[in-house]
Amino acid sequence: MPTPNTRLVTFLEQCRNRVDAELERRLSTSDDGSVRLQQAMQYSVLGGGKRIRPALCLAAASAVGQPQDKATVPACALELVHAYSLIHDDLPAMDDDELRRGRATTHIAFDEATAILAGDALQTMAFGWLAEAPGLDNQVRLAMIRELAFASGHQGMVGGQAIDLESVGKSLTVDQLERMHRHKTGALIAASVRMGALTAPDVSSEQLAALTIYSQTLGLAFQVQDDLLDIEGDTTVIGKPQGSDLARSKPTYPSLLGSAGARDYLSQLLDSALSSLDGFGEEGDILRDMAGYVVARTH
Ligand code: IPE
Ligand code: IPE
Ligand code: MG
Ligand code: MG
Ligand code: MG
Repeated sequence: MPTPNTRLVTFLEQCRNRVDAELERRLSTSDDGSVRLQQAMQYSVLGGGKRIRPALCLAAASAVGQPQDKATVPACALELVHAYSLIHDDLPAMDDDELRRGRATTHIAFDEATAILAGDALQTMAFGWLAEAPGLDNQVRLAMIRELAFASGHQGMVGGQAIDLESVGKSLTVDQLERMHRHKTGALIAASVRMGALTAPDVSSEQLAALTIYSQTLGLAFQVQDDLLDIEGDTTVIGKPQGSDLARSKPTYPSLLGSAGARDYLSQLLDSALSSLDGFGEEGDILRDMAGYVVARTH
């Protein structure tokens, strides 16, 4: 029996190889569009990143007994939307950051207009890939398109980014902060797990409900840890500028609860995420490992 840590490290490496191979192949297919735009898209997607959303999608597929093949293109589509969200998040009009994944942000490496367009193109590409995702029937494809659309739009990530920008310099209540985090980060993480589960056309409503609670809790925990890393992390390790939230007067969990309070909250969220998986046997082990990883990650 591998220890949980070895099991997770092996799983994450396999996910990365699987997803990166598919992303590289698909993003290198030449078209007759702008070469510079395509380069900016490749730069933003292929330059590192932990691939947590794809890993959650693949792990959820395994938890409902489905082969990873069926979840590979959905996992890649999630990473495209995530990469687009990062490009736009770093723009001068938003967080105005110059470092991402240890190198220049897309608008610095290219230019602002190209970065905006690369984000736009990656977003629509994600839905195109889902519409033709191999190994899935049309009903499943449609359910996934719906899932990703709601999670990334105004009811999800984009809505959360808007709340984030409106909250600059304000002191939010814990409930308001939770609402912001659930939208800006939680929604896409929840969609990652739910899209993995949707690869099983006969997934039960109980299973889906349990996985939804798991993923929403984990999504919130993910952003709490991101906020902590902004304060306690090291720029060279996190690959993005430490202290960016403070510099831009963003309300965060540590700014509201203190670092110790934020860490306590994180461990409560981990406990809840794990208990929501009680109905799963060992097929849920990777999701359990992922929860531990998300709250303990150093970058
Ligand atoms: C960073 O996400 C943006 C947030 C939602 C907090 P990740 O920490 O998953 O970024 P990468 O993909 O590993 O660079
Ligand atoms: C943004 O949150 C989450 C997104 C929707 C991209 P942050 O602004 O905290 O993400 P980082 O810290 O720049 O990665
Ligand atoms: Mg931001
Ligand atoms: Mg940011
Ligand atoms: Mg952050």
